[in-house]
Amino acid sequence: MAAQQDAGQWVLRRVEGTAQEVPLGSMKGQLGPDVVDMRTLYRRAGVFSYDPGFANTASCMSAITYIDGEAGILLHRGYPIEQLCQKASFPEVAWLLSHGELPDARQKARFEHGLMAEAHLHEQIRNFFNGFRRDSHPMAMLCGTLAGLSSFYGNQGADQRHRITSEEREMSTLRLVAKMPTLAAWVYRYSRGLPLIYPRPGLSYAENCLHMLFSMPEAAWEVNPVLARAFERILILHADHGQNVSTSTVRTVGATGVNPFACVAAGVAALWGPAHGGANEAVLDMLDEIGTVDGIPDFMNRVRNQEDGTRLMGFGHRVYRNLDPRAGLMRNICHEVLAELGMDHDPRLELAMKLEETALNDEYFISRRLYPNVDFYSGIILRAMGIPSSMFTVFFAVARTAGWVAQWKEMLESRAGISRPRALYVGPDRRDVPAS
Ligand code: ACO
Repeated sequence: MAAQQDAGQWVLRRVEGTAQEVPLGSMKGQLGPDVVDMRTLYRRAGVFSYDPGFANTASCMSAITYIDGEAGILLHRGYPIEQLCQKASFPEVAWLLSHGELPDARQKARFEHGLMAEAHLHEQIRNFFNGFRRDSHPMAMLCGTLAGLSSFYGNQGADQRHRITSEEREMSTLRLVAKMPTLAAWVYRYSRGLPLIYPRPGLSYAENCLHMLFSMPEAAWEVNPVLARAFERILILHADHGQNVSTSTVRTVGATGVNPFACVAAGVAALWGPAHGGANEAVLDMLDEIGTVDGIPDFMNRVRNQEDGTRLMGFGHRVYRNLDPRAGLMRNICHEVLAELGMDHDPRLELAMKLEETALNDEYFISRRLYPNVDFYSGIILRAMGIPSSMFTVFFAVARTAGWVAQWKEMLESRAGISRPRALYVGPDRRDVPAS
């Protein structure tokens, strides 16, 4: 992985005081705008940059995901998300993210076999759950049990990150992707007091997720190919999204050399918040609050007036200033699932569609370039499939694990240094503690 480098293309010029010019390197990725190379800025100019939220800063080089937020484009390893969503399975996408190419038939068969073989959890993990209140938030249980898995797979970690072999990295990525659905399903089963269900050979990755959620010992979940494929496409749409909060967290934590299970648990914690992975749950709460289409004008007034910070959940994105390409795909999946379940006239769907249409024609949203994001429709689909809203972010984490481990692996292979941002200090100047 390399970016073209060209020294001295940019000049930092101090406008006040003595004239000072510092040439900075210019870099060019495969796609996207030119990049100013800031790595020597402080050493050469004695100044540093202020970029809260890092919206203008590339924290790493990556060959995994490209996003053009202005044009609404999302590519994984060069493949458009629309094509992957239509033509690939989730394990194929997970392999692609980690390995750079879609798997051939032999690689695919071996990977799927490995996912099945590694889907089981150590039996002692069952004991972990007993320590949680049944009404704990599922993300709390997921985060805790996942971090706990690091005590079972300590040797497969990155404890000595530059010495970890590529076989160990492969094993860790396989194990994490394989075990997440079982962990996620057990979180749900425990919270409901239901018997824990084991993964079943012969089912696909997505089917196994639904089987472990919904089967009972006396009555196995009946595979519905439309729902299983819809669920698989939801996983694909959430698999990776560049250097978002949780992925940046995984890279940052992983760069310290910590065990990958602990590292992904940190990603789970980052994903939990309503401004990130928790948004689809928040969309449903918002729809419930609005009630019916008659409630839209009132709600939109509150959003426009920014009353109590009211926002249209499922709209807007840090990167997209155009339609999030995943949102349109999610809308299609929503229609398919509700038709399959005989819920095409679901009042919540009608409300969501009317709300979307209203917002897209509203000056407040047009002028701010706010469009639906991936979360606007996903909650409606998941709830229609019988998945409770508190589990939405858990399955987002299942999907995003494919991206997290790919990014973790890429970070280790690039031998990146550890992260250490600075602060623009605005506290008191040096002062002495008063005499007592
Ligand atoms: N509803 C109403 N107004 C909004 C919304 C929204 N959903 N999103 C942004 N705005 C407004 C802001 O209030 C701001 O208005 P102002 O210029 O008058 O102050 C303007 O649009 C610019 O917004 P920013 O705050 O700069 O947007 P930012 O890029 O910081 O935030 C975010 C992005 C957090 C996603 C925001 O759009 C939001 O809160 N959306 C709702 C939550 C959501 O759906 N999150 C999921 C994101 S996708 C994901 O993580 C998987």
